[in-house]
Amino acid sequence: MLETRSLTKSFGAIHVTRSVSLRLERGERRVILGPNGAGKTTLFNLLVGELAPDSGTVHLAGEDVTALPVARRARRGLSRSYQKNTLFDGLTVEENLALAAAVPTGHATRLWSDSLSRPEIRETVAEVAEQVRLVPYLHAKVSEVSYGVRRQLEVGVALATRPHVLLMDEPTSGVGPEMSKGFHDLLNDLPSDLTLLIIEHDMDLAFAVADTITVLNYGEVVFDGLPEAARGSKLLKDIYLGSWEDA
Ligand SMILES: Nc1ncnc2c1ncn2[C@@H]1O[C@H](COP(=O)(O)OP(=O)(O)OP(=O)(O)O)[C@@H](O)[C@H]1O
Ligand SMILES: [Mg+2]
Repeated sequence: MLETRSLTKSFGAIHVTRSVSLRLERGERRVILGPNGAGKTTLFNLLVGELAPDSGTVHLAGEDVTALPVARRARRGLSRSYQKNTLFDGLTVEENLALAAAVPTGHATRLWSDSLSRPEIRETVAEVAEQVRLVPYLHAKVSEVSYGVRRQLEVGVALATRPHVLLMDEPTSGVGPEMSKGFHDLLNDLPSDLTLLIIEHDMDLAFAVADTITVLNYGEVVFDGLPEAARGSKLLKDIYLGSWEDA
């Protein structure tokens, strides 16, 4: 469903992505682990087209999309959520979802207040709000909801474009253990044919949701396999030092 072949990217002298080859099957849930600065977010930027690789290719549903801009990849069903807040703080939760839902319909360029009244958009908003547990917050302004709710909305906005492949960059960063647990349930409830690639620092959550695990270190894939094999790997323990022991 999503594949990279020998993807490589440098910023000046820093080799941030080193010949990364990955392959995700339809419906697969893969977690990307790796220390700070390992190149995880950069890999996402390359996958969605926010960055162009120096070499290598990205394939979506069998098609080489390396030369396609972000919007064209999005129209083919690739969506992402961000590590940092990208929401419209002055709008309500519902309006943020509606704007995202309007993107694939081509109506996003029109007045956003029109979007909300369109039946197909209302339907998407209602469905996504249910999926990401945001129904009680729909009419609240983003600036007024908690940090945890904003993280959920960040995922909701990505889901509202109706993706086939969803990339999530640290969806639980900065939230407490209780929300991490809630997030696990949320992920489990997503459609089983949705392909998920998740960057996650919370080991419990990572192992609970992953079908497969990829570990990046200094921009390189140093592990690619089943969670059980990842757990026992000395290489990974070394990379994560103490933090791995807590998992
Ligand atoms: N646009 C850029 N220009 C120059 N260097 C960059 C750029 N983007 C990322 N880098 C560098 O590339 C390296 C990898 O960054 P990246 O954000 O991909 O790491 P990460 O694995 O997502 O880290 P974290 O866990 O902290 O989010 C870092 O050294 C970073 O400083
Ligand atoms: Mg990152």
